[in-house]
Amino acid sequence: MTHKHQALPMAEQVIWLIGASSGIGAALVGELQKNCKALIISARNEDKLQEVATGFDNVSIIPVDITQPSTLAQAAQQLTDRFGHIDTLVANAGTAEYVDVNHFDAALIRRVHETNFMGLVNCVEAALPLLRKSQSGYIVGVSSSVAYLPMPRAQAYGSSKAAVSHFLEAMRADLVHLGMDVSIVCPGFVKTPLTDKNDFPMPMRISAEDAARYMVKGMQKRQFEIHFPKRFSYLLKLIGNLPDFLRLRITASMSRAGTPDNKDSHS
Ligand SMILES: NC(=O)c1ccc[n+]([C@@H]2O[C@H](COP(=O)([O-])OP(=O)(O)OC[C@H]3O[C@@H](n4cnc5c(N)ncnc54)[C@H](OP(=O)(O)O)[C@@H]3O)[C@@H](O)[C@H]2O)c1
Repeated sequence: MTHKHQALPMAEQVIWLIGASSGIGAALVGELQKNCKALIISARNEDKLQEVATGFDNVSIIPVDITQPSTLAQAAQQLTDRFGHIDTLVANAGTAEYVDVNHFDAALIRRVHETNFMGLVNCVEAALPLLRKSQSGYIVGVSSSVAYLPMPRAQAYGSSKAAVSHFLEAMRADLVHLGMDVSIVCPGFVKTPLTDKNDFPMPMRISAEDAARYMVKGMQKRQFEIHFPKRFSYLLKLIGNLPDFLRLRITASMSRAGTPDNKDSHS
């Protein structure tokens, strides 16, 4: 049986945002702090966290490395001592690297999964006991719209995000019975240091500030899937649901693996 629960208004919430030192996370700090009671922000770079928190009375920082569960456990202990609970976890930290099949490297895939998938799982492990003490605990995990469609060069990033989406939906199926909510965030392209490195076209790219506004709007309604910009995410969902023969033709046409430059330089 599902326990009915009343979501605590965001204005009364203690929120732990992990991955807040740049990009979407840094933009989220500005949006979330004006809507919540207390915001604790984490990432590895302490100086950048300090910079992001400057000027906000209700924002404090706790540095963590999500690939090191002991740092998350220490942070959770500090949160327990200070607040006794948290109401929302926003697991936003992530990284991106792209695969060259002519130079296949399992270590690259392991690295990306260690941060994007196991890192998020580590965040949930640390936060869950604190969320269970909330009136209506809420996990927001950042996946990506790439999870809708397996694309060339995304064997590491895309599969880590598909794993994140699968994990979060499975968590929701259990946690709903404990009075908790889960949201999956699937952004399209957002202008951040992560995408500034990309050397491929990024259609319909939006600003980190717009992404943060979309996210907070979805979080206020506790939407299960928060995806934006809609014109991009619906397009990927549409292609992702085409019959194999069409979908595979479209994704193969995006590959550079067989172009003379690529084949020759790695043969
Ligand atoms: N930008 C896009 O187009 C896009 C699209 C879809 C999904 N996303 C997802 O959105 C999230 C934010 O990405 P972004 O574009 O804003 O990238 P970003 O500017 O590179 O920010 C990534 C954040 O994650 C933190 N982080 C990375 N590794 C970490 C670790 N081991 N421990 C703790 N924190 C760590 C970084 O902080 P430190 O380096 O200080 O640790 C930083 O705060 C990611 O999950 C990304 O996959 C982005």
